[in-house]
Amino acid sequence: MQFTINGNRMDLIMDPRTSLLDLLRDHLGLGGTKKGCNQGACGACTVLVDGERINSCLALAVQYEGRSITTIEGLAAQGSLHPLQQAFVDHDGFQCGYCTPGQICSAVGMADEVKRAVPSYVTEDLLLDEIELTDSELRERMSGNICRCGAYNGIVDAIRETFAADRTEPNDRETAR
Ligand code: FES
Ligand code: FES
Repeated sequence: MQFTINGNRMDLIMDPRTSLLDLLRDHLGLGGTKKGCNQGACGACTVLVDGERINSCLALAVQYEGRSITTIEGLAAQGSLHPLQQAFVDHDGFQCGYCTPGQICSAVGMADEVKRAVPSYVTEDLLLDEIELTDSELRERMSGNICRCGAYNGIVDAIRETFAADRTEPNDRETAR
């Protein structure tokens, strides 16, 4: 099977019953993606597939053959933290850190959904071309990512600073620092 993982094209031979999460962690040594519940309830295993967030524990790797997969290891470009990673540090957005890679991958995918005006459960006007990332939108859209340490206020602050404070692209803001 052929995949592109964090920009690297890979041809792999594996049992077709292997989950995407187990492929990443156990076969490729990408331990940043975490296994929490292993049944789609916690979000710790969230990765991006062609920019869309999925729970990798619920996916068979074979379903994503030929696709581009990004894990937390792939978000930090050339040794420097992604702006959202830095914001998590700045706002104490984690304690044990177990949920953090999933939170960050999920938030990156979530921000793209907002940019594309994909409505959420709390979006009142479904015909809007632009959706504001209010705190209620943010909390609803991130509700699939559980933090057992309860670091939610810091998580929300970090995501708000990175994606909701203005419409500037995060990488542009990083350059401007
Ligand atoms: S480990 Fe996948 S949702 Fe919990
Ligand atoms: S920081 Fe510990 S589970 Fe979220």
